[in-house]
Amino acid sequence: MDILIIGSGGREHALAWKCAQDHFVNHVFVCPGNAGTHLEDKVSNVEIDTNDFKSIENFCIKEDIKLVIIGPEQPLVEGLTDHLQSKGIKTFGPSKKAAQLEGSKTFSKDFFKKYNIPTAEYKSFEDYDSALNHLNQIEYPTVVKADGLAAGKGVIICSCKKDAEDALISIFKDNAFGSAGSRVVIEEFLEGEEASFIAVVSKDKIVPLATSQDHKAVGDGDVGLNTGGMGAYSPAPIVNAEIHQKILNEVMFPTMEGLIREGYPYLGFLYAGLMIKNNNIKVLEFNCRFGDPETQPILIRLKSSLVELCLSAINEKLDSYSIDWIDKHSCGVVIASNGYPESYDTNKEVKIKLNEDGDLKLFHAGTKYKNNKIVTSGGRVFCATALGNDLKEAQKKAYNLVDDVSFEGSFFRKDIGFKGIK
Ligand code: AMP
Ligand code: GLY
Repeated sequence: MDILIIGSGGREHALAWKCAQDHFVNHVFVCPGNAGTHLEDKVSNVEIDTNDFKSIENFCIKEDIKLVIIGPEQPLVEGLTDHLQSKGIKTFGPSKKAAQLEGSKTFSKDFFKKYNIPTAEYKSFEDYDSALNHLNQIEYPTVVKADGLAAGKGVIICSCKKDAEDALISIFKDNAFGSAGSRVVIEEFLEGEEASFIAVVSKDKIVPLATSQDHKAVGDGDVGLNTGGMGAYSPAPIVNAEIHQKILNEVMFPTMEGLIREGYPYLGFLYAGLMIKNNNIKVLEFNCRFGDPETQPILIRLKSSLVELCLSAINEKLDSYSIDWIDKHSCGVVIASNGYPESYDTNKEVKIKLNEDGDLKLFHAGTKYKNNKIVTSGGRVFCATALGNDLKEAQKKAYNLVDDVSFEGSFFRKDIGFKGIK
């Protein structure tokens, strides 16, 4: 069978790489893909704009695509799943309505409240003056969030009132996040350790994937601006058996049941970003997709077929699906372009002297293949991912792989996995 993956990041390279491993998969197309998916065996890129739903539909029909997996949030929030499913094309990803869990922070916070899902206290505002007034009534630090999609950059941690005022000015007055900032959520600052809990969900059935932990801040020791994620590892020891069960009972099941009650049951990867402290969990956010870079270290550990898993979910047979993992630890280190998450250069030629073996994989993200060369095209450029018998070994191998890659202005965090090792 042939498969189509939508997206162009490291997550999509990992999804395509994994799908291509199944002997029953003939070919994997990636729209639009990157240099990594272009160079992968049994995988090729398709140049269609991901906003052009009709052309994607036509491509699926022409190529007799048996499964579409949508990677990023934007096409999900805009309803690509609904469009393709209405044409009878098997698509793995939530509907436009269910994707509101990520598409609007006000929607998700109101949903948490309605269904008693633990989260930070919050208030939502549609105008500058009432948001500003609210700043007199709260404690600091506080967190100001643009309501809509902002590529992981719409969250501003404010240590004092002045910072929060600046955040409101940048969102409401300077339009820093465009229409994503037409509403703002101001919420309680939570302390603790973060973890990512990602599962495959189909209505009331769930298959949790291996646990993981991302590193959101740009700098070592979690300092500096928030990014889409600078590296991740799996499993995350903070999610012990007791916490795992609590997450299912207090977060995942109530969310799945709530969505069914609202009339839009979930299908797809469901990602809860959690803050954990003293065995208490609170939801920071939901994502309606697989995490990036969590996908890379999680999929390198997945023994089972991802294609069968997604098809079981679509066909409502998830309860009979059992999933196997490679009993090792994994670590993925993002190599980024100087300046990221703010402005950065592109079009830098990449040199790779690769010694990949079964335990190592260099996933591409912001890369393009141009004139037989790999050049940079994004802020996060690669995710060097490795398996090891313990996290320390996985970390060491991932950093050795990082050393095999060079381009002008590259940088990476030196401490990916430090909390897991500690
Ligand atoms: P979000 O997109 O809502 O997950 O926020 C991105 C990142 O901002 C999270 O991964 C946390 O590191 C941080 N963050 C978001 N909300 C809070 C909060 N209420 N308290 C502390 N940190 C937060
Ligand atoms: N790594 C965080 C995210 O995918 O949103």
